[in-house]
Amino acid sequence: MADKYPPISGKCPHFLHGGDYNPDQWIETPEIWDEDMRLMRLSGCNAMSIGIFSWSNLEPEEGRFEFGWLDTIMDKLAQNGGYTVLATPSGARPAWLSAKYPEVLCVGPNRVRNLHGQRHNHCFTSPVYREKTAAINRRLAERYKDHPALIVWHISNEYGGECHCPLCQEAFREWLKRKYNNDLDKLNHAWWTGFWSHRFTDWPQIESPAPHGESSLHGLNLDWKRFVTYQTIDFYKNEIAPLRELTPGIPVTTNFMGTYTGLDYWKFAEELDVVSWDNYPGWHTDAETTGELASKIAFIHDLNRSLKHGKPFMLMESTPSLVNWQPVNKLKRPGMHMLSSLQAVAHGSDTVQYFQWRKSRGSSEKLHGAVVDHCGHENTRVFRDVTEVGAVLKKLDCVLGTTVKPDIAVIYDWENRWAIDDAQALRRDKKDYQKTCENHYRAFWKSGIPVDIINMDCDFTGYKLLIAPMLYMVRPGVAERIEAFVKRGGVFVTTYFSGYADENDLCFLGGFPGPLRKVTGIWAEEIDSLYDQDSNALVLAPDIRTSLRGEYALHTFCELIHAETAEILAAYKNDFYAGSPALTVNSFGLGKAYYIAARTENRFLEDFYQSLITELSLLRALDCTLPESVTAQLRTDGERKYIFLMNFSEEAKMVDLKSKVFKDIVTGELLQQQITLRPYDVRVLEEP
Ligand code: GAL
Repeated sequence: MADKYPPISGKCPHFLHGGDYNPDQWIETPEIWDEDMRLMRLSGCNAMSIGIFSWSNLEPEEGRFEFGWLDTIMDKLAQNGGYTVLATPSGARPAWLSAKYPEVLCVGPNRVRNLHGQRHNHCFTSPVYREKTAAINRRLAERYKDHPALIVWHISNEYGGECHCPLCQEAFREWLKRKYNNDLDKLNHAWWTGFWSHRFTDWPQIESPAPHGESSLHGLNLDWKRFVTYQTIDFYKNEIAPLRELTPGIPVTTNFMGTYTGLDYWKFAEELDVVSWDNYPGWHTDAETTGELASKIAFIHDLNRSLKHGKPFMLMESTPSLVNWQPVNKLKRPGMHMLSSLQAVAHGSDTVQYFQWRKSRGSSEKLHGAVVDHCGHENTRVFRDVTEVGAVLKKLDCVLGTTVKPDIAVIYDWENRWAIDDAQALRRDKKDYQKTCENHYRAFWKSGIPVDIINMDCDFTGYKLLIAPMLYMVRPGVAERIEAFVKRGGVFVTTYFSGYADENDLCFLGGFPGPLRKVTGIWAEEIDSLYDQDSNALVLAPDIRTSLRGEYALHTFCELIHAETAEILAAYKNDFYAGSPALTVNSFGLGKAYYIAARTENRFLEDFYQSLITELSLLRALDCTLPESVTAQLRTDGERKYIFLMNFSEEAKMVDLKSKVFKDIVTGELLQQQITLRPYDVRVLEEP
């Protein structure tokens, strides 16, 4: 039976296409607003994010509100068949607010309070800021609750940062008291404060981490990050309370920033109706190939889809042409705008939105890419590119609400990342947790195999293959769930630097990988770090039952492990640990657990996973071998399959569709046998 998610808003059962629109920057020239409406219709844009930084135009003086301009814009949008993603304005404050209530300003880790300025510069604890943001949000909801243009609430903008003011210190201590049941002994144990005589004897002695104060208690660092996530979400909940009360049917989101390390998005996503994120890859860089970058972006798109367990997300911001904050701001080459926009759709986005609709005339973003340039008309390359995306999205209604249920999940866990980043160990410049996860992911991206990116608390049942690179932290219950997964026939893959510490970053006693020792069947005794010029290799045992053969280069980390119940598949070639195990597999119940003890060249990961892809018959978008830098991604309602075939390279590529016939949804063409993709080409195919 067909199984789709409902559209983000029932008012608009189509892809949302549009972006951040700042009509209040043009209040003195309202004729521009009419021109904006004409251009929006022309470009096939139907959703504008408004009011993100409009507070000083909505409440120019304390308690004096001016909604006239916003009424006009909302009405104009509705009259022109458009919709509003309406923002709450807390991302930037009016100057009068900071001047009258300095407590709203953020205090840095050095305990210095910021001056008014910039944006995103506020305290999430301040009762005044909470009161003022809730009050203006209530006014917005009261005024527009029945407006036909309102479809989504965009809460604040890119929540981030942390405040260390006295109010936040107090809130942190209260949070700790709740967490540790008012028991300082429990906290002292969790933070291992016997170290360097750091034992606390009274709650007020506890301070947030500071460069000129405490930074070496890893338990404290971890709890502070958890608190920052908690407090930011708590602030957000305060923002949405009036919206939930007055507009219960309007979905709420806030724009995430990929793998921003300051907030645990797994916790935040629970509180959103729909996930959205801002995507600004530096296409055409000389640092990596387009294919390599595309695979990293695909990883984050998949993460955003996984944050709500497969529910389509929103691409809230992307640039139609270039950004203005990279060291080298390259223009998107012809074809890249369509390709990068449909890449988001391929991985589960139901929107393509931009920053920004019209270039602002002054200030720091005046030269950032926009749909409408300072020339003010539609006869530009960028406007034509955007219009083309608008036209294609109109043909993709059938894809809306579809998703994918991959056979594979890669664990990328924020708390694990925090703990790894904090660890004073290994090669400190090359810990690279995210990059390692991306490298494991890339093997599947290249083969057109869908993947979920989950955290360690997610449900593992339903997957055939679970990959947990560098699972340093293992929270309570996780190892047991991994064991159950493998026992039932799942395949688990983990690597060096796994099973070292518990949820408080306290090392497991009795041998690593701690609670993963039984399922992996190995004991990890030591870990060696390599200089760039050091070399080692993994040598496959001659008589093993995998398709892997020969040698693979190793770099950066080699862990010295002992096979206990596991079978040795490969050994180290060099150094005093030559001949000891580098790759093992442990049969456990009906499944298996692999342990990759060293950081390998990517060719190893590709070959290793290729053999698992075949062995486990993993779900794939297209049943064929894809050329380098070409991927295929799948969206389905359970019956109909939509395949996004994308060429992330500067050369034409040929894909062999074998004997199957496909329909190109955009052009209507029937395709079979060999299809040639132009550089940066993207085709949306339907399996008949
Ligand atoms: C985003 C931000 C936008 C705009 C954009 C520029 O991070 O949310 O407001 O500044 O960057 O690329």
